[in-house]
Amino acid sequence: MKIPKICVIEGDGIGKEVIPETVRILKEIGDFEFIYEHAGYECFKRCGDAIPEKTLKTAKECDAILFGAVSTPKLDETERKPYKSPILTLRKELDLYANVRPIHKLDNSDSSNNIDFIIIRENTEGLYSGVEYYDEEKELAISERHISKKGSKRIIKFAFEYAVKHHRKKVSCIHKSNILRITDGLFLNIFNEFKEKYKNEYNIEGNDYLVDATAMYILKSPQMFDVIVTTNLFGDILSDEASGLLGGLGLAPSANIGDNYGLFEPVHGSAPDIAGKGVANPIAAVLSASMMLYYLDMKEKSRLLKDAVKQVLAHKDITPDLGGNLKTKEVSDKIIEELRKIS
Ligand code: NAD
Ligand code: IPM
Ligand code: MN
Repeated sequence: MKIPKICVIEGDGIGKEVIPETVRILKEIGDFEFIYEHAGYECFKRCGDAIPEKTLKTAKECDAILFGAVSTPKLDETERKPYKSPILTLRKELDLYANVRPIHKLDNSDSSNNIDFIIIRENTEGLYSGVEYYDEEKELAISERHISKKGSKRIIKFAFEYAVKHHRKKVSCIHKSNILRITDGLFLNIFNEFKEKYKNEYNIEGNDYLVDATAMYILKSPQMFDVIVTTNLFGDILSDEASGLLGGLGLAPSANIGDNYGLFEPVHGSAPDIAGKGVANPIAAVLSASMMLYYLDMKEKSRLLKDAVKQVLAHKDITPDLGGNLKTKEVSDKIIEELRKIS
């Protein structure tokens, strides 16, 4: 079998701590060719580019991309030099339109209260259109929220197809069409068209909720969700919120998927408050690697890695964010130990 080529971008802060551990774990599981590239704020300070052309080129040449996290500089530092987060450039350049963020509680002993749903976030438009400006005359700052027919159709189709493929029963569209009549009105209307088809052909339910109420339902009744599909910024916020149900961002993985490329990254950022201390939880990055293995059609290895993480959580071999006292490397050692036991 062909050895998969992985473009590794560690980034800034704890990206440089959790990704080397994830690579160490992947080496335990199989043969990969790792190609390292730079991106992020440190890269920007060093070479003037948040994401050099070479990084984009390698990303496009590899079978998958493993990404850590990057820092965004404070506003005053960017006034003269514009800074765009490299993760946004990658999502746009590689047209990674679906951001898949599973919210699955792996250490739940009470199965009746199982938390297991997936947030599918549109990843290329919405309030991330990049069109933002200040009208001097009107003294008005404006951000454009772009919701295209094409962008809505492909993400909603992706969500229903995901439900079919992963034997899910319900897709919930999250929106704010009571106020955003035109933009979210379009998104919801398209959802309703797909809803009919998937109900008739696959018996998958479709329903919708307003985003503000959803923020409450996620905390109060997370079991009501199966697959969520939503626009870019709502998905960003709801996924960080939902990670709180698991114990925090240290446990939330993600996949950025397009028709030609896949990029895998923890949901969290560079965590400057804990960076450099060696205590970052590596599990979000490791579970992102498990999603990468699934994407690369290494489904058995993907499952093994997730099972090893489950065991480590069950034994409470955890970092301080989860109430433990292990270091990043120690948790990774435990994951490797479990892998050796079960494979
Ligand atoms: P963050 O996700 O970095 O951290 C939020 C909180 O969660 C912090 O208290 C942090 O210590 C904790 N946390 C996050 N990951 C953890 C882990 N693996 N283990 C233990 N604790 C963890 O968000 P922030 O502090 O709001 O942002 C910091 C920087 O990261 C900003 O510059 C932001 O723009 C950037 N960011 C980047 C990405 C990305 O690269 N994809 C994502 C989110 C934020
Ligand atoms: C995420 C992050 C990014 C986003 C930032 C770093 C641009 O918060 O991946 O969730 O807003 O999408
Ligand atoms: Mn985010």
